[in-house]
Amino acid sequence: MNPFPGKTITFIPATSNNGIMRTVIIYHSDSGHTQAVAEYLARQTGADLIRVTSTFPYTTVSRAVTGVRRAISGTPDPIEHREIDVAGYDCVVAGSPVWAGHPSPVINGAIDRLRNCQGKAGVAFVTCCLVSGGAAAILSRRMEDCGLQVKGSMVVHGSQITDYTYLNRLVTIINRPWYGDIRVS
Ligand SMILES: Cc1cc2nc3c(=O)[nH]c(=O)nc-3n(C[C@H](O)[C@H](O)[C@H](O)COP(=O)(O)O)c2cc1C
Repeated sequence: MNPFPGKTITFIPATSNNGIMRTVIIYHSDSGHTQAVAEYLARQTGADLIRVTSTFPYTTVSRAVTGVRRAISGTPDPIEHREIDVAGYDCVVAGSPVWAGHPSPVINGAIDRLRNCQGKAGVAFVTCCLVSGGAAAILSRRMEDCGLQVKGSMVVHGSQITDYTYLNRLVTIINRPWYGDIRVS
């Protein structure tokens, strides 16, 4: 018999690696800002890094026109990876530059290629010059749509890319124990 009908039970999911949380950071970066953040986070957390690149034939001009249009509509770019299997990880971090207040179509392409996300933790971050719009929340939602449970997100503005005190907040989110909730009926 269920002693807690209608209650929510919080549990700590088993990690896939003898209690040590394994993290992968998947990121897109054209001019190096998101890459710098991703590499710092990897050094601080021991995470693996996967850089994704678009096979969409952008030029500098078409990135600003077609790329922005694709970002706003949430259209994913084709990417070099056929799929990104995260079965061996407990936490998936996604990092993207902000394009017109949205995650880039390149990171959207990567999220759509994720496999075996169900029930794993997620963290999102975006880098931008000044205005991020809703990019971090939009990226988080896309990650949740593929089964990740996003435990936090952050925006990194241009001046914060080498602000390690600030970036350490993101490290804390990634390292934070993750508590899943299951509803008992
Ligand atoms: C097509 C395009 C659109 C952008 N839109 C925005 C924006 O809406 N807001 C903003 O603050 N920065 C915007 N930026 C600047 C980038 O988000 C910022 O420089 C980012 O850190 C670049 O990351 P990366 O070096 O990893 O590619 C845009 C850049 C590009 C190329």
